Amino acid sequence: MIRFDGKHILITGASSGIGAGIARELATRHANLYLTGRDRDRLEKVCEECMGAGAASASCFIVDMASEESISAFSRSFSAPALDVLILNAGISQRSTAFETDPSVDRAIMETDFFGPVLLTKGLVGLIKRQEHCSIAVTTSISGLFGFPLRSSYCAAKHALFGFFESLELENRNIRVTFLIPGRVNTPISKSALDGKGGKHGVMDDGQA
Ligand SMILES: NC(=O)c1ccc[n+]([C@@H]2O[C@H](COP(=O)([O-])OP(=O)(O)OC[C@H]3O[C@@H](n4cnc5c(N)ncnc54)[C@H](OP(=O)(O)O)[C@@H]3O)[C@@H](O)[C@H]2O)c1
Repeated sequence: MIRFDGKHILITGASSGIGAGIARELATRHANLYLTGRDRDRLEKVCEECMGAGAASASCFIVDMASEESISAFSRSFSAPALDVLILNAGISQRSTAFETDPSVDRAIMETDFFGPVLLTKGLVGLIKRQEHCSIAVTTSISGLFGFPLRSSYCAAKHALFGFFESLELENRNIRVTFLIPGRVNTPISKSALDGKGGKHGVMDDGQA
């Protein structure tokens, strides 16, 4: 079993679903956790749960992964003794056909699901370069492996993550990249998924449930 005790681990999208689940699990392995998301209440609750579950430390940060400004402000101010593991998990889904999706929505999904992880990784380059070993885990999706109806931009963003982070690994001897490729997991992701006009889908889909 991989040991995580005392490791310094940053997780994006830790306020809900898979990210919160990973945080709780790593807390039982006594890691130092840096949790990010946008919803302060949910994030703080996960943080408290992690402390209760045995985390060496847990702190939370509001970071909007769709905003270059927010990511850059966080990256500049973030300090930790180390960054052993970076888990790029935050993401937003889609529920509309390609032709029904406004181009602004295509871009919004790419901002959160592709540019956000890229910008955050670049913003943390100082910490990453200082590490003898840094593991980067990227949550893509089974939709990152092939096309899927009503997910054109989501699929595109998830595909793009493979290209960027495989290249990053090849360029840096100290970086090890792992792709997390979930199928359907019961989380609220279909509720926050964007429709063609940028509104929330707002429904727990049968497949998700
Ligand atoms: N559930 C599935 O079936 C499934 C399948 C394949 C892949 N995935 C991937 O797994 C990852 C986690 O999804 P999930 O299923 O756990 O969904 P979730 O419960 O909706 O969680 C999504 C997380 O991403 C965060 N997030 C979304 N937009 C953000 C933004 N602009 N800035 C910062 N944080 C943002 C959310 O934080 P706030 O709510 O605090 O904003 C939340 O913590 C995503 O990358 C998703 O694409 C999920």
